[in-house]
Amino acid sequence: MKTQVGIIGGGPSGLLLSQLLHLQGIDNIVLERQSRDYVLGRIRAGVLEHGFAALMREAQCAERMDREGEIHDGFYIAHDGIKERVDLNGLTGGNSVVVYGQTEVTRDLYAARDKLGGIVIHNAEDVTPHDLESAQPYLTYRQGDELLRIDCDYVIGCDGFHGVSRKSIPNDKITEFERVYPFGWLGVLSRTKPVSPELIYATHERGFALCSLRSQVLSRYYIQVPLTDRIEAWSDEVFWAELKRRLPDSVAAELVTGDSIEKSIAPLRSFVAEPMRYGNLFLAGDAAHIVPPTGARGLNSAASDIYYLYHALVDHYRKRDDSGLDGYSQKALARVWKGQRFSWWMTTLLHRFPDSSAFERRLQATDLAYLFSSQKALASLAENYVGLPY
Ligand code: APR
Ligand code: PHB
Repeated sequence: MKTQVGIIGGGPSGLLLSQLLHLQGIDNIVLERQSRDYVLGRIRAGVLEHGFAALMREAQCAERMDREGEIHDGFYIAHDGIKERVDLNGLTGGNSVVVYGQTEVTRDLYAARDKLGGIVIHNAEDVTPHDLESAQPYLTYRQGDELLRIDCDYVIGCDGFHGVSRKSIPNDKITEFERVYPFGWLGVLSRTKPVSPELIYATHERGFALCSLRSQVLSRYYIQVPLTDRIEAWSDEVFWAELKRRLPDSVAAELVTGDSIEKSIAPLRSFVAEPMRYGNLFLAGDAAHIVPPTGARGLNSAASDIYYLYHALVDHYRKRDDSGLDGYSQKALARVWKGQRFSWWMTTLLHRFPDSSAFERRLQATDLAYLFSSQKALASLAENYVGLPY
């Protein structure tokens, strides 16, 4: 097979880029290791910044998001038995976020790819990029006993943190920056009315907690847990009791509990690989960077990569202008690092670190006190949360 752009990975990054390029008449093929059902079975975060929502509209995939997604003008931070609101709208001069599950985003992107007849090859095994430093890179993959080959101009690595793209860059051509946090998030999805119409990020002596939602009948809750905890040790009952302990009494009293329909523990990690280009391979999304979920930046950081790459590829094919491709890594990384800084800061502000000193705990408390005593500090939080400009 032959195509212009070979995309590895059919998560939100790969699908969104595929759809945007297709609409501009740029040929592409997506190779996804898993089945579609598997990809759509993954539960991920659900806060979209307006830049991401705009990109979904440009990709003609926003109809359901605009209908079913909830616009959130603010969220709460709970601490010391109270909750204080961060007025995103007021603090940013009219911006907000959309609460709409990433799983639904992915579902809508698949539907859009189907509608246009986009090529997404599932169950592609052993995907391997070749000759990335040459002008004729190609991909090989296996389907059953068959070995297939796709020749392309560019390879885009949208295959997530564990993908093959980043690993195919020689060690001396890439630098990795990483922080692994000494705790994880235990997440529960339940078909219950959310305790609050807006998200509540709670910091507590016993650890962080988050009250989020997918809709007004579907709740998503998280609590910080030690990485050594096993999911079997967390019955629904024990989970709800622990969540209540970490919330202000007034919130805990309103919490509607029910059976969990999904429960899992995820580690927290900050990670960036630089540069995001090697020859004719470009990395985007989780393949190049990971954030802890505290600032809701994961998908949104992926979206700005896609935005830059999409425009760079259009300029290449339409105007023979390669400045976008040449500047991609630097431009993308500048925004990626701001997302990293913000996610790290939110994580550090709100979690209980097992080996923190008394000095560090005082600084943490002061960071929070400063935040709610300064409109400028709150405005900085809000500006980052709704998403910095592309
Ligand atoms: N070959 C083909 N596909 C692969 C391979 C491989 N070797 N390795 C991984 N994949 C696929 C995965 O199965 C997955 O569907 O690549 C896809 C990567 O998707 P994501 O991990 O979702 O990454 P991305 O599309 O960049 O999405 C951005 O934002 O909220 C965050 O982490 C969250 O997934 C989210 C991300
Ligand atoms: C979620 O709803 O899953 C969610 C929301 C906000 C976050 C992280 C996760 O910061």
